[in-house]
Amino acid sequence: MSTFRGYALVTGAGQGIGRAIALELARRGFGLLITARTGQALETLRQEAGALNGGRVSVVALDLLAPDAVDRLEHAVEALDGPLTALVNNAGQGLWGLFDELGFAEQHRMMRLNMDVPVQLTHRLLPRLKAQREAWVLNVASMVAYHALASMAVYSGSKAFMLRWSRSLRLELKGTGVKVTCVCPGSVITGFTERAGMTAMDDLARKFGTPPEPVAKSAVDALFKGRAEVVPGLLNRITAGLQALLPASLIESTASGIYLKRLPKR
Ligand SMILES: NC(=O)c1ccc[n+]([C@@H]2O[C@H](COP(=O)([O-])OP(=O)(O)OC[C@H]3O[C@@H](n4cnc5c(N)ncnc54)[C@H](OP(=O)(O)O)[C@@H]3O)[C@@H](O)[C@H]2O)c1
Repeated sequence: MSTFRGYALVTGAGQGIGRAIALELARRGFGLLITARTGQALETLRQEAGALNGGRVSVVALDLLAPDAVDRLEHAVEALDGPLTALVNNAGQGLWGLFDELGFAEQHRMMRLNMDVPVQLTHRLLPRLKAQREAWVLNVASMVAYHALASMAVYSGSKAFMLRWSRSLRLELKGTGVKVTCVCPGSVITGFTERAGMTAMDDLARKFGTPPEPVAKSAVDALFKGRAEVVPGLLNRITAGLQALLPASLIESTASGIYLKRLPKR
């Protein structure tokens, strides 16, 4: 078993990318404070991760959009038997549909989950992280952060925010012990597409998507190498590299065309 490296708080750890990141961190010696709404999924992860890190797993089942969520997480951090040294802002959701056809309330909830929650949680916990000799913040954005995407206007905007905020925060924290990394995954096979109402894209997601485990490994590797940003997977890195060379309008109209063509009529 690796040497204990302090605790990592992982949001959205119940399934998908967050779960895989939590396991990867447990394997590398971190205790875990895991959170999501579904308690049963967290209990299953507690068993699995506990076998990797000597049982150092704390569980808080809550809705991150509840008004007291950040307070409750801070209390859970205070109750840990070791320091908080890592924060993973992973919980997030997508919504597929035209901006004016999706409800405002559901899009606003997504904005709060994808942007307000990570900003508020990081703001609250940063003093503790800065007090450590070394600490890490891992933010989960998406490849959609790089370009506009019709039918996911608010989602792609929220991930562009995540990426820009993350890179700016990293610069502000230069000279402290806190490293900030943003991971921008392409398609990953998780519960995400179903929750986002994207089942009509499932065949493409399955064809081009990767399982969450290599994404988590690549993200955690980049975190400990102190990288600002990482796109997991060689094919995604090549795509992102080509996209950077081509005119944004071409990339945006091509990708948007694929998404709009499959968008079910309301
Ligand atoms: N999958 C992809 O293709 C993909 C690609 C790029 C980026 N991403 C990003 O990766 C992150 C993780 O997504 P994923 O693919 O792993 O999705 P997922 O399988 O749907 O997992 C999302 C996790 O977040 C939790 N969660 C959702 N809403 C919550 C809330 N209100 N309060 C507390 N926890 C909440 C869920 O648990 P509960 O439902 O139990 O709360 C679950 O554990 C997201 O930020 C997403 O935008 C995903």
